[in-house]
Amino acid sequence: AADAPVVVAIDGPAGSGKSSVSKEAARRLGYGYLDTGAAYRALAWHALQHGADTSDSSAVIDVAGDFDYAISLDPDEYWVRVGTTDVTDAIREPRISDAVSGVARVPVVRRTVNALFRGLVAESGRPGVVVEGRDITTVVAPDAPVRILLTAAPDVRAARRSNELTTQDAASVAAALHKRDASDSTVVDFLTAAPGVVVVDSTELDFAQTVDAVLDVVRSALDTD
Ligand code: DC
Repeated sequence: AADAPVVVAIDGPAGSGKSSVSKEAARRLGYGYLDTGAAYRALAWHALQHGADTSDSSAVIDVAGDFDYAISLDPDEYWVRVGTTDVTDAIREPRISDAVSGVARVPVVRRTVNALFRGLVAESGRPGVVVEGRDITTVVAPDAPVRILLTAAPDVRAARRSNELTTQDAASVAAALHKRDASDSTVVDFLTAAPGVVVVDSTELDFAQTVDAVLDVVRSALDTD
């Protein structure tokens, strides 16, 4: 059997640049890219589709029973599907961002999607996969050879988010981001690095510099220059 793919685990809060940086790092390494937050978002989409109340755990668990989820691990061709529906854009809508914490809070949901993530990595057919989320360094892949916490100062994160979401004003973006940080961090602590996790702080770095900083950590951990 082929060797198991190398996992590069990257955790961090919204607006840290985590998704775009992870995707670019995966491209440069010739690795797959797995966005784990997309599974929680897609399940929130699925729950709303069924008219379920996402703040009610048992309603979430009910709809999770027929959650048929697929995601691309190709950093150049990203898509997310639920059943036959392409939800790539729909899962970025504010109504999903508002509902997703309720879904991510349910322990059995987390165990189920974590098993899914490990399967996707194992079957990726790639030499490695950059796996990005909130609990990758601690729960999903605590034994990964490369584990990074990507952070940035809260005001910088809010400014980056509001540049992405041009339809919303900066103040409401900042308020929504802080609300979601507070809610998410009751489930997993993604603001402190676990032992052995390398912190990359992007507050003073631009995109290219952040990618380089991440790749430096990967290269020194894997010792491949
Ligand atoms: O990274 P994101 O904004 O797409 O994440 C969506 C939600 O899923 C967010 O509220 C945090 C949660 N999440 C999580 O709890 N664990 C992960 N590994 C990834 C995301």
